Amino acid sequence: MSAPWWERDGDVCWHPYTQHGVEETLLPVTGAQGAWLELADGRRMLDAVSSWWACLHGHGHPRLVEAIATQAATLDHVLFAGCTHEPAVRLAERLAAAAPAGLTRTFFSDDGSTAVEVALKACYSAAARRGEKERTLFVALEGGYHGDTFGAMAVGDPDPFFDEFGSLLFRVVRAPPDAAALEALMAEHGAQTAALILEPIVQGAAGMQSVAPDVVRAARRLCDEHGAFLVADEVMTGFGRTGTLFACEQAGISPDALCLSKGLTGGMLPLSATLFTESIFEAFRSEDRGRMFFHGHTYTGHAIGCAVALASLDVVEADDTPARFEAIGARVSARLDALLPDDGSVQRRRFGGIVVVELDGDGGYLDAAGPRLKAACRTHAPDVLLRPLGSVLYSLPPACTTMEECDLIAERMAAVLTAAR
Ligand SMILES: Cc1ncc(COP(=O)(O)O)c(C=O)c1O
Repeated sequence: MSAPWWERDGDVCWHPYTQHGVEETLLPVTGAQGAWLELADGRRMLDAVSSWWACLHGHGHPRLVEAIATQAATLDHVLFAGCTHEPAVRLAERLAAAAPAGLTRTFFSDDGSTAVEVALKACYSAAARRGEKERTLFVALEGGYHGDTFGAMAVGDPDPFFDEFGSLLFRVVRAPPDAAALEALMAEHGAQTAALILEPIVQGAAGMQSVAPDVVRAARRLCDEHGAFLVADEVMTGFGRTGTLFACEQAGISPDALCLSKGLTGGMLPLSATLFTESIFEAFRSEDRGRMFFHGHTYTGHAIGCAVALASLDVVEADDTPARFEAIGARVSARLDALLPDDGSVQRRRFGGIVVVELDGDGGYLDAAGPRLKAACRTHAPDVLLRPLGSVLYSLPPACTTMEECDLIAERMAAVLTAAR
C-alpha cells in the first residue's frame, strides 16, 4: 500500500520559500473553516497568518462559496480581449468607488506579482508615450518586497531574496523609508524616474516594518515635483488590514497606480487588480494599434474571481472589516502586553490587525533568530499557525477571529517569545 499523500509530497512537490534540505515536516491540511485549519491527524490550527495574508474574512465564508458556485455554473471564464462580462465591469466600478480618488481604470491580472508588473510596465510606457523617454529608472524603498517575477524582483530589495539575479534586473535606486532620504534621492534621480513604488504604512516581507504616513506623503509630493508616477503596492495592506480600507488613506494621498490582490477575493481565488488614473490610461488610447498596452494574461478578468471579489466587497462593507481588524489587533496587542511586560528586550508595533514583535538581530529574513523562533513555534504554538519573518514574530489573522481566539494567539506568541529569547 502506498504511503499517505502527505508523505509522498517530498517525492514530487517543490514548495515556495522552502529549503528542502533543512525544512521541518509539512502540515498536511485537509480542510479550513473560519479562522481554523484542519489537519490530517485531526488537529486544528488557528491560521494566524491568514494563509500568506490572503484569507480576509475567514476560510469557507458561505457568501463567497456561494458566489463561486453560482458564477462557475453561469460563466466560468472567457477571454477578456474582445469580450467583457458583468462581474468584471461591476468589480471595476466598485473598486473605483472604494479606492483613493482618481483611480478610475482597472487592469485585471492574476496575483500580487503580476499586479506590480502591470503597474511598472504601464507607468514606464506612459512616461515614454508623453515623450519622456529619459525616464528609464524606478525608485523604491529599502526593505520593499513586490513579488517574485522579474520586474517585481527588480524593484524589491535584493537582499537576500534576489541577489543572485542582480545582473538580469533593471536599474532601481533605493532610499530607506525616510522622507529626507527620499527627498535627496529624488533630487538626484527625479528627472530620470518613471515611477516610485512603495508599500504604504507597512512593508510586509521586510518584517512588518513601518513606512510612516509622512514618508508616503513625501513620496506623493516628490513624484509630483519631479513628474514621476507613484505606485502604491497594497497587495498585503488592501481591504482593511491596517485598520483603514486602504493604507494610503492614512497618508491622505492617492497614488497614480494601486496594486491589489490577496484580500481582493477574500483570499479564495487568485486575482489581482491594478488601478490607474485616467491620464495613464489615456496615454495608451489612440487610433494607432501599435500604441496599445501590449500586456495580458490568459486569466485576465477571470469571471469567477471577479464574482467572489464582489461578494468579498459586500462582506467588507456589511461587516466593517477595517474596524474588525483594528479591534483584533488591539486585543492581541493588549493581551500580549499583559503577558509579556515590556522590558525593552523586544520591539513591538501594530498596524491595525497586524501585531508585531521583533527580537534583537539584524532584522533580515535569514537572521539567526529565525530558526530559533520557528522551532519555538512548533513546540509552544501547536494550535496556532505562526510563520516568523527572520527575527520578527507577527500575527495577522482573518477578520472572523473572535476575542477569545485573539487571546489564544497572544498567549502562544508570548510563549514562543519567552522560549526563543
Ligand atoms: C506587498 C506585496 N506585493 C506583492 C506581493 C506578491 O504577491 P504574489 O505572491 O501574490 O505574487 C506580495 C506577496 O506577499 C506582497 O506582500
